[in-house]
Amino acid sequence: MKILMVGTGYVGLVSAACFSEMGHHVICLDIDEQKISNLKEGIVPFFEPGLKELVERNTRAERLIFTTDYRFGVEQSDVCFLALPTPSYEDGSCNLSYIYSAASEIGRQMNDYKIIVNKSTVPIGTCQQIKHHISNILKERNLEIPFDIVSNPEFLKEGCAISDFMKPDRIILGVENAHTAKAMREMYSAFTINHDRIFLMDLVSAEMTKYAANAMLALRISFMNELARLCEITGADIKQVRIGIGSDQRIGYHFLYAGAGYGGSCFPKDIRALCAIAKQNGVSLSILEAVDHVNEQQKKTLAKKIHTHFANQDGIADMTIAVWGLAFKPDTDDIRDAPSLTLIQELLECGCFVRAYDPVAMPNVSKFLGHHPRLQFCKDEYEAAYQADAIVLITEWKQFRFVEFSKILSHLKQKIFFDGRNQYPISEMSELGFEYFGVGIPSPKPLLSTVKEKTHDQSSIPV
Ligand SMILES: NC(=O)c1ccc[n+]([C@@H]2O[C@H](COP(=O)([O-])OP(=O)(O)OC[C@H]3O[C@@H](n4cnc5c(N)ncnc54)[C@H](O)[C@@H]3O)[C@@H](O)[C@H]2O)c1
Repeated sequence: MKILMVGTGYVGLVSAACFSEMGHHVICLDIDEQKISNLKEGIVPFFEPGLKELVERNTRAERLIFTTDYRFGVEQSDVCFLALPTPSYEDGSCNLSYIYSAASEIGRQMNDYKIIVNKSTVPIGTCQQIKHHISNILKERNLEIPFDIVSNPEFLKEGCAISDFMKPDRIILGVENAHTAKAMREMYSAFTINHDRIFLMDLVSAEMTKYAANAMLALRISFMNELARLCEITGADIKQVRIGIGSDQRIGYHFLYAGAGYGGSCFPKDIRALCAIAKQNGVSLSILEAVDHVNEQQKKTLAKKIHTHFANQDGIADMTIAVWGLAFKPDTDDIRDAPSLTLIQELLECGCFVRAYDPVAMPNVSKFLGHHPRLQFCKDEYEAAYQADAIVLITEWKQFRFVEFSKILSHLKQKIFFDGRNQYPISEMSELGFEYFGVGIPSPKPLLSTVKEKTHDQSSIPV
């Protein structure tokens, strides 16, 4: 089956690469000319483990091609996927302009029967709107070309997107007739050999399923973050509480971590979009409004803890803070809505020197924040910690789990560690002499005290 993938971002490019790996011929279409010309040269526009190899292999095999030309893309394909941005408006509602603009273009170029498959996360009822949109354009063209619409929301996770796509927990297909159900089953057959993972349903239920899944996951995170605040006051340990409640099979251990708040391109916007959809329908989703509110507060807690800690040292102005990790989660360079941005902006506004390091996300942060004389990107976590008054871990990249602290201890101005992801055993950090602050865990006093005087040395001496 010939596939057109409209939108070659995180979802579109991964889906296209995986479909082509399974033998389909896929045309990737994007309006970003630079992105397409880079892809033609084998330059993948973002970091996703294993994606570059997959793109290279299938481009060489001529199963994957790239274009900006809608006419070519639509004419040459049987199935047109939409993998387009669905960002939030100011009021939280979903901006569907990218979807409708692509739908219009497909309508203008449609030459024979097509299946239009929407992969983007969209408000309930959008697939019907896409259908109306294309029908109207065909009417304007005085053409009666049949087409079908499918809702096929995507559940891949950045950082393990390829294995998620290749071995999905489920493939949700919202369909309107048996013909499209059969065609979609065929298209996904290579991904369901082990066992059937396809769930057929109507269009609106499929659209709702995606929002419901993200809402449930975000809810678990905000639930743990809210409990973590109470743990900090009462002396309970959220890590132990997690083990205690997760052992109940009805609850489970996954997605029960307290931290620096959720970010990324999906949870924040999807929770707000779902609340907005509810409001438009005269319903209030008070639980999800609270989930969003708790998360916004949580993104500020690390900065608050830093302020509180340094209040007795005349505040944080001119302090040097090392920030470990910038991406919204490990194994991606995606920084959309990342808690690191909230923290860094606050630290810079308060006059701190920020020494940041992330294995892959620094170029994106640099582009997003622009040049700032007090923000320095470092070559690794050791260099970032040089002369730091405090280290803040905000993204739990695996390489931060086994840091050789002996390499940095003598270069620190103060041994203060704010761990936004509860990555280190408190006892070990105390033995190293750190004052260690996790999220929702007790903060013992260090075994050694190491407060030094404020100095402003920002030179970048590798350690
Ligand atoms: N990123 C994820 O982890 C993830 C997971 C599941 C679902 N989703 C959903 O999938 C959708 C896409 O997300 P993404 O992260 O891949 O977005 P993205 O921003 O990474 O990529 C979107 C691409 O679409 C292109 N584009 C915009 N308008 C276009 C048009 N009219 N014609 C052709 N191309 C156009 C952009 O240039 C960009 O390359 C969103 O609805 C998102 O919520 C994302």
